[in-house]
Amino acid sequence: MSAPSRRAEFLRTEITRHNDAYFVHDAPIIPDADYDALVQELRALEAEHPELRSESSVTSRVGAPSSTVFSEVVHAEPMLSLDNVFDEDELRTWSDRVARGLAEDAANLSFAVEPKIDGLALSITYVDGVLTQGATRGDGRVGEDVTDNVRTIRNLPTVLNGTVPGRVEVRGEVFIAKHDFVALNERQREVEGKEFANPRNAAAGSLRQKDSAVSASRPLSFLAYQLVDLDQSTAFVHYIDTIHQLARWGFFTAPETEFVDGAEAMVARSTWFETRRHDLQYEIDGVVIKVDDLAQRDVLGFTSRAPRWAVARKFPPEERTTRLLAIEVSIGRTGRATPYAVLEPVVVAGSSVALATLHNQDQVSQKDVRPGDLVIVRKAGDVIPEVVGAVDEPGRTRSPVWKFPTKCPECGGSLERVGEQSDTYCVNPACPAQLLQQILHFASRAALDIEGLGEQRVAQLLGEGLISDVADLFSLRVGDLSSLEGLGELSAASLVRAIERAKSAPLSRVLIGLGVRHVGPVAARELSSRFRSYDELASAPLEELETLDGVGPVIAASVFRYCRDPEHSERMVRLKAAGLDLAEPNVPPPLDATLAGRAVVVTGAVEGYSRDDAESAIVARGGSSPGSVSKRTYCVVVGEAPGASKLSKARELGIPMIPGSAFLGLLESGTWSTTLS
Ligand code: IVH
Repeated sequence: MSAPSRRAEFLRTEITRHNDAYFVHDAPIIPDADYDALVQELRALEAEHPELRSESSVTSRVGAPSSTVFSEVVHAEPMLSLDNVFDEDELRTWSDRVARGLAEDAANLSFAVEPKIDGLALSITYVDGVLTQGATRGDGRVGEDVTDNVRTIRNLPTVLNGTVPGRVEVRGEVFIAKHDFVALNERQREVEGKEFANPRNAAAGSLRQKDSAVSASRPLSFLAYQLVDLDQSTAFVHYIDTIHQLARWGFFTAPETEFVDGAEAMVARSTWFETRRHDLQYEIDGVVIKVDDLAQRDVLGFTSRAPRWAVARKFPPEERTTRLLAIEVSIGRTGRATPYAVLEPVVVAGSSVALATLHNQDQVSQKDVRPGDLVIVRKAGDVIPEVVGAVDEPGRTRSPVWKFPTKCPECGGSLERVGEQSDTYCVNPACPAQLLQQILHFASRAALDIEGLGEQRVAQLLGEGLISDVADLFSLRVGDLSSLEGLGELSAASLVRAIERAKSAPLSRVLIGLGVRHVGPVAARELSSRFRSYDELASAPLEELETLDGVGPVIAASVFRYCRDPEHSERMVRLKAAGLDLAEPNVPPPLDATLAGRAVVVTGAVEGYSRDDAESAIVARGGSSPGSVSKRTYCVVVGEAPGASKLSKARELGIPMIPGSAFLGLLESGTWSTTLS
């Protein structure tokens, strides 16, 4: 075999292996940028040596192989991929090529410049305005039918608003917003003891669940960017009109998308995205540039894998190098020992990083990072700092290979690895670090929400021997507390009041607080609304637990076991004796969090709402309503007699402004169809 042919073989094997890791197992082994480099190299090699090309080469496929778990959907039109460019010059070369193809001047073309969301492509079919099918991209030609799971995506209309066409397919990206990813991973860590690598993998895993209750419990969002008009009933001339129609039907479309005239404005806007990428609500790995004129698109056409009228400008993942000062181990609520890196602080993706998780023993050995090394740091999903690996420093003597400690740094008990698992645990049930984390979890916002019980205070209470279990909290008296350092009579009294208030917490929150393995908010609510009291739940047979929606065999077995553990039963008896309700009141289901994590500024009077009402309505949908406009503002609702300074700030920052009449629609769908200019 010739050298190029050997290299091509090697690249194909590598790419196939990474495709499998990425698409089938949702667990990439290498950064996207490295993967892109492999594909680019293979493509270049095939271009130079056409004899190496073959129909079956990975370069002629557009994506993932399809699996057999879901039924197959043959796409009405193939779901194509995009060609990539990596800098401004390559982007200009692309627009020059487009201009040549149209016999136009690049300065006269109009483009859409959109965020390239790091999620996964989804096709959704609507018949007479009703959602009938949702399918993944699969290999581009055949995807998987994930309709039941797609219906659980909260910001997605199941019925289109307004005038609806016969049959349309709406394509776009499923993603998990950054703030949702942080919360999801916290929950995953608490409930499952493991985390997702990044929002894309979390979204992919969540969409391909066999049980749609699990998908429903994940914060998936959808962003629409393409309309496939299956019976040619629409007659749009420009892409911008398609996007406006999608928004009118109730889809979320990218608020940052800009339609610009001329190649230079297009290049400038794409670079704007690169500088602002960390301020966006979702993780992006680049921008997508599309020709706006649909007739021009027809002229340009497609290659076998991608349209000629669109291109992705990919951004390099933001990575920094810094010195690894030490590797330490922290002990969690379940005793799990997690190694983490202590770093010389460095700014990555917009904020300073001094600590980064190393996940577990295997990860440390695989990355072979040692104290003193220069290491590469990045943020998974733009938010969670992680150490990628060590940088070679020829001539420097490295410290010896780091060894996982055998003793718990907190209690001196032994640290053990159980069976095949990659996790190590402190096996001392009386370890104060575990106890501290358990009590903090019990008092946390998601559980009993006891204000004033932060890490320092709990450590102090444990240290003074005032508590040794969550049940002890309820016998604390002002007299016990007021002598503690830093806690006067008044704050002692307010802490006791906060603990007192927690006694009426609904059963679901107590279940979350107790940290029953695998029980997250969805299962906790399901269990509590079915059984209504702890005693009823504790006496339910296993088979009955298993039949509940959102409670599979794993959760059921865990709850069943928990309720039969004598130590846990004794705690429940004490909690009951202390006056906890341990019951679930009848409350209406919460409203859909259409504005989760979004800041909506209201200016002027919106009909039907007082200022307070408008704010509460936004908060009830998971959003916030700050008093001023900033670059983080999602949109500005403009009522009667709006404030001039808010309007001009919104204009300056390019924040969408929507009329007061669209407020109700915004609350219900998280999006809008009309903007003010
Ligand atoms: S357009 C024929 N627009 O990137 C046009 N794709 O690398 C196909 N993506 O498969 C896609 N954001 O999953 C388009 N604003 C955007 C996008 C976008 C993310 C994804 C999509 C596509 C992949 C190609």
